[in-house]
Amino acid sequence: MQFETLLFAIENGTAIITINRPDKLNALNATVISELSTAIDAVYQNTAIQSAIITGSGAKSFVAGADISEFIQLNAPEGEALARKGQTAVFDKIAACSKPIVAAVNGFALGGGCELAMACHFIIAASTAKFGQPEVNLGLIPGYGGTQRLVQAIGKGRAMQLLMTGEMISAEQAAAWGLANKVVAPETLLDEVKQMLQIIHTKAPLAIAKVIACANAFDHTAKGFETEITAFGACFATADKVEGTTAFLEKRKPVFTGK
Ligand code: COA
Repeated sequence: MQFETLLFAIENGTAIITINRPDKLNALNATVISELSTAIDAVYQNTAIQSAIITGSGAKSFVAGADISEFIQLNAPEGEALARKGQTAVFDKIAACSKPIVAAVNGFALGGGCELAMACHFIIAASTAKFGQPEVNLGLIPGYGGTQRLVQAIGKGRAMQLLMTGEMISAEQAAAWGLANKVVAPETLLDEVKQMLQIIHTKAPLAIAKVIACANAFDHTAKGFETEITAFGACFATADKVEGTTAFLEKRKPVFTGK
């Protein structure tokens, strides 16, 4: 399959989906979201695909978040629509896929990048990976399920800390907190994940699909995701969102006023 912002290859039954905007640290713009949706549809539909890996292009970043330059012009209803569309077309579809989808986190997994990794069924991290939800620096909150999946992954206290401070944690810390399953050398990351998936390929596919469905059924946060979408949209009506996103693009520190 040919994409503008993704590389897509199939190797031994595993689709390798690489987000490919390294000059923007693989930030998720509207094209990436739309193409990811198409790529995940292919994972669902193509019987030659038994599993998938999502990773980022280049050594520096998995995904450094949603594309902040696209946020500048959005009002509250548009912000809400962006979160809803992303969750439905990509993040929920990844989480619900009956074939295993693993995040191979090769660098920054920030904001939408951390959310993308968490939507995958599990995460393997390079030692150079960094995780965080820095949206508060922009006068925003996560909108692609981060407030829900982070609490589930690492517990309320740790999630609240990361969500409120916007701080980044190392791959080792992410593994210690249960966000990443394993930390590996950057040069072996993809091979490690491919080998894990080859083991899963030897198991009964219908049983794997049921494992995923049952593990997802444990999740009682449907209302939480809706709460997040509404709150994310509301942030787009604030002066602080304008200040936060403008300050990022102007490469300066934001001055928030609480309005
Ligand atoms: N959206 C849009 N562009 C982004 C981006 C994002 N989320 N993250 C990085 N970029 C762009 C930068 O603007 C820069 O573009 P330029 O070269 O045209 O100026 C390029 O990617 C490289 O990023 P830069 O900030 O110069 O790299 P760095 O090594 O100094 O810092 C980060 C790396 C990840 C710490 C920094 O880019 C960052 O804080 N990114 C935003 C993270 C974020 O807030 N994510 C949540 C978004 S909701």
